[in-house]
Amino acid sequence: MLALLLLTLVQLTAGKAQAASQYNYDCSFCHTMPPLDSATSKKDPNTGAVPGNHAGHATSAVNSCVTCHGSQVSTYPMGHRNKTIELSDGIGYSRKIAAGFVNQTSVPPNPMGTCSTATCHSNGKGTLRATPAWGSAALTVPGGCSACHDVAPSTGNHPTAGTKHGNYYGLGTGSCVKCHTDHSVQAKPFAHATSAGHRAIEVKFAGGGSFAANQCSNVYCHSNGRGTYTPPTWGGTLTCAGCHGDATTNTLSGNHAKHVNNAAFLGTNYGCVECHSSTVSNDTTISSFANHVNQTKDVAGTRVGTPVSGTCSTSYCHSDGKGTMKSVTWTGSTALTCKSCHGADAAPA
Ligand code: HEC
Ligand code: HEC
Ligand code: HEC
Ligand code: HEC
Ligand code: HEC
Ligand code: HEC
Ligand code: HEC
Repeated sequence: MLALLLLTLVQLTAGKAQAASQYNYDCSFCHTMPPLDSATSKKDPNTGAVPGNHAGHATSAVNSCVTCHGSQVSTYPMGHRNKTIELSDGIGYSRKIAAGFVNQTSVPPNPMGTCSTATCHSNGKGTLRATPAWGSAALTVPGGCSACHDVAPSTGNHPTAGTKHGNYYGLGTGSCVKCHTDHSVQAKPFAHATSAGHRAIEVKFAGGGSFAANQCSNVYCHSNGRGTYTPPTWGGTLTCAGCHGDATTNTLSGNHAKHVNNAAFLGTNYGCVECHSSTVSNDTTISSFANHVNQTKDVAGTRVGTPVSGTCSTSYCHSDGKGTMKSVTWTGSTALTCKSCHGADAAPA
């Protein structure tokens, strides 16, 4: 009897248009919000999970579906179950374009489609990248960071192999934080992609300074180490003089000029390496990037002894040649005479 009754019911309902639901289901009743991602290329009948990447793209909020499924979602009645998975044209989903009709059967296609015009999957300069196929393994940090833009981009003075910023900051995602927010440590490291086209590229410096009109201003790195900044242009090149000035225009402190530009008295001009051997190997070569522009004035070398608080008191140069050291200060402005080093002792030997 029961079987017959059921059969009759089935026959009665077959082919009939779907009536508005009698019940007030919430959105998560049939497909959860967002739909669960199955870990495989198949649907999982036990959980209702479908192949896809909904977890990384949508939340439980209805408006999170709109970007990909269209603005009509925000007013969806139950009748949206029309056997077509609506997708916005704006994302260029390949299955939609090719088929004109997208539906998943109980055995979904593998691989699924890709998006080629989704601005989120751009390099931030308007060049769109095709997305990994819908349902691919979720992107990870740091491997997935180069899915949309290179790490680092090849534009401007980005830290790529062989560049100065690369030498100083390294080549991985660890370098980005020098000039940008560190997206790799955010709870949702890829969420920043959705701001493409909605805001300017964010450039900021933890140590202060700003970026505008393609120039960095008041950034310590681009100072002479004494609070004078020379705004560099993004994409330009700098020589040592770009920050330090050259032999005549140099802005170096204290008695630099008397050492590096004083051959008449010294018999030679001292090279930077004489007093900065832990940073440079000659006047134009940085030997240790770790010591240069590290907020510390590294002084070391055969000419300086062990400087203490701006004073050279163990430097052989400032001795009388017989083992008595004369203490001189870096900022002292008194011109040295022969007696500053020789014969000024109470009882000259
Ligand atoms: C990043 C884009 C994107 C977002 C955001 C998104 N979806 Fe999807 N969704 C897709 C794609 C792509 C497909 C399936 C394409 C296919 O079948 O080839 C899909 C398929 C579906 C399906 C059909 C699943 C199946 O296979 O039976 C449902 C249901 C669905 N989405 C619901 C939602 C809901 C609800 C939201 C918001 C909470 C949402 N989607 C947000 C891209 C998205
Ligand atoms: C009675 C079951 C059911 C309920 C309740 C339900 N959906 Fe769906 N939904 C489906 C089915 C089935 C699909 C698969 C696509 C189709 O058949 O059109 C789907 C597809 C979708 C999609 C993918 C785009 C599309 O139109 O195909 C979105 C987005 C979506 N639903 C959002 C919602 C929202 C928002 C609510 C709450 C207002 C909701 N759904 C409630 C069954 C349901
Ligand atoms: C889904 C594509 C995509 C992925 C994956 C991606 N990005 Fe981006 N990224 C973008 C887009 C698009 C922009 C440009 C944002 C804009 O224009 O507002 C951008 C900009 C940036 C910027 C410039 C600063 C800013 O926010 O404006 C940095 C730094 C960055 N991404 C780092 C990363 C890191 C680190 C990862 C890995 C955790 C990563 N990106 C993964 C798309 C992506
Ligand atoms: C030395 C500073 C600096 C470092 C380090 C740096 N960026 Fe940038 N980045 C910039 C500047 C400046 C821009 C240009 C902003 C503009 O044009 O408004 C930029 C722009 C970008 C853009 C937008 C697209 C483009 O090519 O202009 C992306 C994406 C980006 N950076 C990602 C990264 C990533 C990823 C890293 C780490 C691997 C990184 N950046 C490291 C300074 C830096
Ligand atoms: C006779 C030793 C000596 C020589 C040679 C020398 N320096 Fe210095 N340098 C110093 C001392 C001492 C300081 C100050 C350290 C302090 O204030 O703590 C210093 C500081 C600096 C600083 C930090 C900013 C400033 O001006 O105080 C820079 C930059 C610098 N030197 C660059 C150079 C360059 C470039 C050369 C080669 C052209 C050079 N130095 C040659 C001794 C020397
Ligand atoms: C982008 C700006 C910039 C450029 C270009 C630059 N420097 Fe420096 N340099 C600095 C700053 C800032 C300091 C201050 C000390 C510090 O933070 O290490 C410094 C310090 C130094 C010092 C003092 C030793 C020390 O470690 O503090 C020497 C020597 C030096 N620079 C040599 C050079 C040489 C040689 C070149 C070219 C190969 C060069 N610099 C290019 C910014 C620059
Ligand atoms: C900054 C310290 C200093 C000053 C200033 C200085 N000397 Fe010397 N002088 C030395 C030292 C140290 C020696 C030990 C020999 C050496 O290392 O060349 C020396 C050695 C000498 C010698 C022995 C010969 C030689 O070259 O070894 C004479 C002579 C001499 N000085 C004369 C002078 C005269 C003259 C003046 C002034 C024009 C002068 N010195 C200024 C530090 C100085």
